[in-house]
Amino acid sequence: TRTIQLAPSLMTMDLDQFKEQISFLNNKVNLYHIDIMDGHFVPNISLSPWFIEQTRKISDLPMSAHLMVTDAPFWVQQLIDVKCEMICMPAEVSNGVAFRLIDQIHDAGLKAGMVINPETPVDTLLPYIDLLDKITVMTVDPGFAGQRFLAGCLDKITLLRQMREEMGYGYEIEMDGSTNKAHWKMIADSNPDVYVIGRSGLFGLTDNIESSWQQMVSEYE
Ligand code: DX5
Ligand code: ZN
Repeated sequence: TRTIQLAPSLMTMDLDQFKEQISFLNNKVNLYHIDIMDGHFVPNISLSPWFIEQTRKISDLPMSAHLMVTDAPFWVQQLIDVKCEMICMPAEVSNGVAFRLIDQIHDAGLKAGMVINPETPVDTLLPYIDLLDKITVMTVDPGFAGQRFLAGCLDKITLLRQMREEMGYGYEIEMDGSTNKAHWKMIADSNPDVYVIGRSGLFGLTDNIESSWQQMVSEYE
């Protein structure tokens, strides 16, 4: 057996059960996935540095921010200010600022990642691939939960694993988007280290986190 890390995507939780859900998940999962959108890079708004601080009141787990914003320097600074353990920038808009931001994150003692959207090739990451702590491969267009799964993106996970093995890179590989029953098998075959689980994989299964969790585990097995 291999160890996978689970990262619930908190934008898909039920806010009326915020405390129950976080308390239940705290000793079951490895980290929380925090989607941060600006209404420009994607046509939606979701969580925020403030939300991270609120969640910290009831959780010690590391937070991983998935930035979907055009002004990466602004949001990276906001997340450094709240000591977000892992800050993942969109590769598509980080040209010309990436090295500076990665250094800034590392100087603050935090981890730096990059996210690639479905149509962005792995090659985009080559200039700084050796500096990254995590690479997130999107398997849906960013911006919304519950979208169509783009199976073709899984090839990028396979490629990133091969590159890591050959070159000794240190990044973790994460996948994000429609991680659910219908796709467990193919996802497991491509073998990412971190699974982001959202509405279709966990929170939306039932109206109670404990039964949703049990259903997810039974579907995975
Ligand atoms: C989409 C977000 C995902 C989303 C996943 O922009 O990046 O984290 O919450 O939700 P599901 O797994 O339901 O597609
Ligand atoms: Zn995400």
